[in-house]
Amino acid sequence: MKKINLFLFVTLYTLIHASTILCHGPEPVEVWFRNLKKPSVPKTAVIQFYVQDFVGGPRQSAWQVAQASITPTSPTNFGRLIVADSLLTVGTDLNSAPIGRGQGLIGYSDLNDPAVSSSINYVFTSGKYNGSTLSMFGRNPLSAAGDRELSIVGGTGVFRLARGIATVRTYLDFDATGHGVFNYTLYVIYP
Ligand SMILES: *[C@@H]1O[C@H](CO)[C@@H](O)[C@H](O)[C@H]1NC(C)=O
Ligand SMILES: *[C@@H]1O[C@H](CO)[C@@H](O)[C@H](O)[C@H]1NC(C)=O
Repeated sequence: MKKINLFLFVTLYTLIHASTILCHGPEPVEVWFRNLKKPSVPKTAVIQFYVQDFVGGPRQSAWQVAQASITPTSPTNFGRLIVADSLLTVGTDLNSAPIGRGQGLIGYSDLNDPAVSSSINYVFTSGKYNGSTLSMFGRNPLSAAGDRELSIVGGTGVFRLARGIATVRTYLDFDATGHGVFNYTLYVIYP
Protein backbone atom coordinates (compact mmCIF):
# COMPACT_ATOMS: atom_id res chain seq x y z
CA MET A 1 0.00 0.00 0.00
CA LYS A 2 2.80 2.39 0.96
CA LYS A 3 4.61 1.60 -2.28
CA ILE A 4 1.51 2.37 -4.34
CA ASN A 5 1.05 5.66 -2.52
CA LEU A 6 4.63 6.67 -3.11
CA PHE A 7 4.29 5.70 -6.78
CA LEU A 8 1.19 7.89 -7.03
CA PHE A 9 3.00 10.75 -5.36
CA VAL A 10 5.98 10.47 -7.68
CA THR A 11 3.69 10.30 -10.73
CA LEU A 12 1.71 13.29 -9.49
CA TYR A 13 4.92 15.20 -8.78
CA THR A 14 6.30 14.45 -12.26
CA LEU A 15 3.04 15.54 -13.87
CA ILE A 16 2.95 18.73 -11.82
CA HIS A 17 6.54 19.50 -12.69
CA ALA A 18 6.03 18.74 -16.36
CA SER A 19 3.14 21.17 -16.59
CA THR A 20 4.86 23.67 -14.24
CA ILE A 21 1.57 24.07 -12.36
CA LEU A 22 2.45 24.42 -8.70
CA CYS A 23 0.42 22.43 -6.24
CA HIS A 24 0.88 23.55 -2.65
CA GLY A 25 -0.79 20.50 -1.10
CA PRO A 26 1.12 18.33 1.38
CA GLU A 27 1.67 15.36 -0.99
CA PRO A 28 3.91 17.00 -3.62
CA VAL A 29 5.72 18.91 -0.88
CA GLU A 30 6.38 15.63 0.90
CA VAL A 31 7.82 14.05 -2.27
CA TRP A 32 9.97 17.14 -2.81
CA PHE A 33 11.11 16.99 0.83
CA ARG A 34 12.08 13.28 0.59
CA ASN A 35 14.06 13.98 -2.58
CA LEU A 36 16.18 16.49 -0.68
CA LYS A 37 18.10 13.54 0.79
CA LYS A 38 19.54 12.83 -2.63
CA PRO A 39 22.69 14.83 -3.29
CA SER A 40 22.16 17.48 -5.95
CA VAL A 41 23.84 20.65 -7.13
CA PRO A 42 22.00 23.71 -5.76
CA LYS A 43 20.26 25.84 -8.39
CA THR A 44 20.81 29.55 -8.72
CA ALA A 45 18.72 32.34 -10.23
CA VAL A 46 19.34 36.03 -10.84
CA ILE A 47 16.02 37.85 -11.04
CA GLN A 48 15.88 41.48 -12.10
CA PHE A 49 12.78 43.67 -11.91
CA TYR A 50 11.55 47.17 -11.11
CA VAL A 51 9.20 47.97 -8.22
CA GLN A 52 6.61 50.62 -9.14
CA ASP A 53 5.68 52.38 -5.90
CA PHE A 54 2.94 54.97 -5.53
CA VAL A 55 2.64 56.83 -2.22
CA GLY A 56 -0.28 58.94 -3.49
CA GLY A 57 -2.60 59.52 -6.43
CA PRO A 58 -5.19 57.21 -8.02
CA ARG A 59 -2.74 54.27 -8.25
CA GLN A 60 -1.59 54.47 -4.61
CA SER A 61 0.11 51.18 -3.65
CA ALA A 62 1.63 52.01 -0.24
CA TRP A 63 -0.45 53.12 2.74
CA GLN A 64 0.49 54.22 6.22
CA VAL A 65 -1.47 52.08 8.68
CA ALA A 66 0.00 53.15 12.03
CA GLN A 67 2.40 55.48 13.76
CA ALA A 68 3.80 55.99 17.28
CA SER A 69 3.39 59.02 19.54
CA ILE A 70 7.00 59.93 18.68
CA THR A 71 6.52 59.72 14.87
CA PRO A 72 5.28 63.31 14.21
CA THR A 73 8.33 64.80 15.95
CA SER A 74 10.89 62.14 14.98
CA PRO A 75 13.44 63.31 12.36
CA THR A 76 13.49 59.74 11.02
CA ASN A 77 9.72 59.05 11.07
CA PHE A 78 10.37 56.47 13.78
CA GLY A 79 7.38 54.20 14.38
CA ARG A 80 5.70 54.80 11.02
CA LEU A 81 4.28 51.56 9.62
CA ILE A 82 3.34 51.09 5.96
CA VAL A 83 1.62 48.27 4.10
CA ALA A 84 2.36 48.04 0.37
CA ASP A 85 1.26 46.01 -2.65
CA SER A 86 3.38 47.21 -5.55
CA LEU A 87 3.56 46.19 -9.18
CA LEU A 88 6.78 44.50 -10.39
CA THR A 89 7.71 45.18 -14.01
CA VAL A 90 10.37 43.81 -16.35
CA GLY A 91 11.47 47.29 -17.46
CA THR A 92 11.69 50.73 -15.85
CA ASP A 93 8.49 51.84 -17.59
CA LEU A 94 5.26 51.46 -15.63
CA ASN A 95 3.64 49.95 -18.75
CA SER A 96 6.33 47.35 -19.41
CA ALA A 97 5.48 43.67 -18.87
CA PRO A 98 4.24 42.90 -15.34
CA ILE A 99 5.93 39.94 -13.58
CA GLY A 100 4.38 40.05 -10.13
CA ARG A 101 3.67 41.99 -6.95
CA GLY A 102 5.75 43.05 -3.97
CA GLN A 103 3.56 42.79 -0.87
CA GLY A 104 4.41 43.46 2.75
CA LEU A 105 5.35 45.74 5.61
CA ILE A 106 7.76 48.64 5.84
CA GLY A 107 8.52 50.05 9.29
CA TYR A 108 10.61 53.08 10.19
CA SER A 109 12.78 51.53 12.86
CA ASP A 110 15.89 53.69 13.29
CA LEU A 111 15.87 56.54 15.85
CA ASN A 112 18.95 58.28 14.40
CA ASP A 113 19.22 57.56 10.67
CA PRO A 114 16.48 57.33 8.03
CA ALA A 115 16.17 53.57 7.63
CA VAL A 116 13.33 51.07 7.40
CA SER A 117 12.90 47.40 8.23
CA SER A 118 11.30 45.71 5.23
CA SER A 119 9.41 42.44 5.18
CA ILE A 120 8.23 41.88 1.61
CA ASN A 121 6.91 38.87 -0.29
CA TYR A 122 7.58 38.84 -4.04
CA VAL A 123 4.71 37.02 -5.72
CA PHE A 124 5.56 36.05 -9.29
CA THR A 125 2.60 35.95 -11.69
CA SER A 126 4.22 35.22 -15.05
CA GLY A 127 7.13 33.43 -16.66
CA LYS A 128 8.88 30.35 -15.28
CA TYR A 129 8.45 31.49 -11.66
CA ASN A 130 4.68 32.02 -11.99
CA GLY A 131 3.03 30.89 -8.75
CA SER A 132 6.26 30.95 -6.73
CA THR A 133 7.21 33.47 -4.06
CA LEU A 134 10.39 34.83 -2.48
CA SER A 135 10.46 36.43 0.97
CA MET A 136 12.78 39.37 1.56
CA PHE A 137 13.67 40.72 4.98
CA GLY A 138 16.15 43.33 6.04
CA ARG A 139 17.23 46.88 6.77
CA ASN A 140 16.98 49.44 4.00
CA PRO A 141 18.94 52.66 4.69
CA LEU A 142 16.91 55.22 2.75
CA SER A 143 19.68 57.84 2.76
CA ALA A 144 22.19 55.54 1.06
CA ALA A 145 22.86 57.02 -2.36
CA GLY A 146 24.10 53.78 -3.89
CA ASP A 147 23.05 50.19 -3.55
CA ARG A 148 21.30 48.70 -0.57
CA GLU A 149 21.41 45.04 0.34
CA LEU A 150 18.66 42.98 1.97
CA SER A 151 18.35 39.25 2.62
CA ILE A 152 16.17 36.68 0.91
CA VAL A 153 15.12 34.41 3.75
CA GLY A 154 12.91 31.86 2.03
CA GLY A 155 10.41 31.06 -0.66
CA THR A 156 7.64 28.79 -1.92
CA GLY A 157 6.98 26.86 -5.13
CA VAL A 158 10.21 26.44 -7.10
CA PHE A 159 11.90 28.58 -4.42
CA ARG A 160 11.28 26.26 -1.46
CA LEU A 161 14.18 26.66 1.03
CA ALA A 162 15.67 29.53 -0.99
CA ARG A 163 18.31 31.86 0.45
CA GLY A 164 19.84 34.87 -1.17
CA ILE A 165 20.59 38.54 -1.42
CA ALA A 166 18.53 41.37 -2.90
CA THR A 167 20.28 44.52 -4.09
CA VAL A 168 18.26 47.70 -4.48
CA ARG A 169 19.04 50.89 -6.35
CA THR A 170 16.73 53.89 -6.73
CA TYR A 171 15.92 54.38 -10.41
CA LEU A 172 13.39 57.20 -9.96
CA ASP A 173 12.99 58.89 -6.57
CA PHE A 174 9.40 59.76 -5.65
CA ASP A 175 8.22 62.50 -8.02
CA ALA A 176 5.48 65.12 -7.52
CA THR A 177 2.77 62.51 -8.23
CA GLY A 178 4.21 60.17 -5.57
CA HIS A 179 5.60 57.66 -8.08
CA GLY A 180 8.97 55.99 -7.38
CA VAL A 181 10.77 53.21 -9.27
CA PHE A 182 13.31 50.91 -7.66
CA ASN A 183 15.75 48.60 -9.41
CA TYR A 184 15.93 45.19 -7.70
CA THR A 185 18.26 42.31 -8.48
CA LEU A 186 17.74 39.09 -6.50
CA TYR A 187 20.55 36.53 -6.29
CA VAL A 188 18.95 33.29 -5.15
CA ILE A 189 20.21 29.82 -4.33
CA TYR A 190 17.76 26.94 -3.81
CA PRO A 191 17.88 23.12 -3.72
C1 LIG B 1 0.20 32.10 -14.09
O1 LIG B 1 -0.37 30.97 -13.47
C2 LIG B 1 -1.77 31.08 -13.27
C3 LIG B 1 -2.24 29.88 -12.44
O2 LIG B 1 -1.73 28.69 -12.97
C4 LIG B 1 -2.47 31.16 -14.63
O3 LIG B 1 -3.87 31.29 -14.45
C5 LIG B 1 -1.93 32.37 -15.38
O4 LIG B 1 -2.47 32.42 -16.68
C6 LIG B 1 -0.42 32.33 -15.45
N1 LIG B 1 0.03 33.61 -15.99
C7 LIG B 1 0.90 33.69 -17.01
C8 LIG B 1 1.18 35.08 -17.49
O5 LIG B 1 1.43 32.72 -17.52
C1 LIG C 1 19.38 47.83 -12.78
O1 LIG C 1 20.39 47.13 -12.09
C2 LIG C 1 21.01 46.12 -12.87
C3 LIG C 1 21.98 45.40 -11.95
O2 LIG C 1 22.89 46.27 -11.36
C4 LIG C 1 21.70 46.74 -14.08
O3 LIG C 1 22.24 45.72 -14.89
C5 LIG C 1 20.67 47.54 -14.87
O4 LIG C 1 21.33 48.22 -15.93
C6 LIG C 1 19.98 48.55 -13.99
N1 LIG C 1 18.93 49.21 -14.74
C7 LIG C 1 18.91 50.52 -14.93
C8 LIG C 1 17.80 51.04 -15.79
O5 LIG C 1 19.74 51.28 -14.46
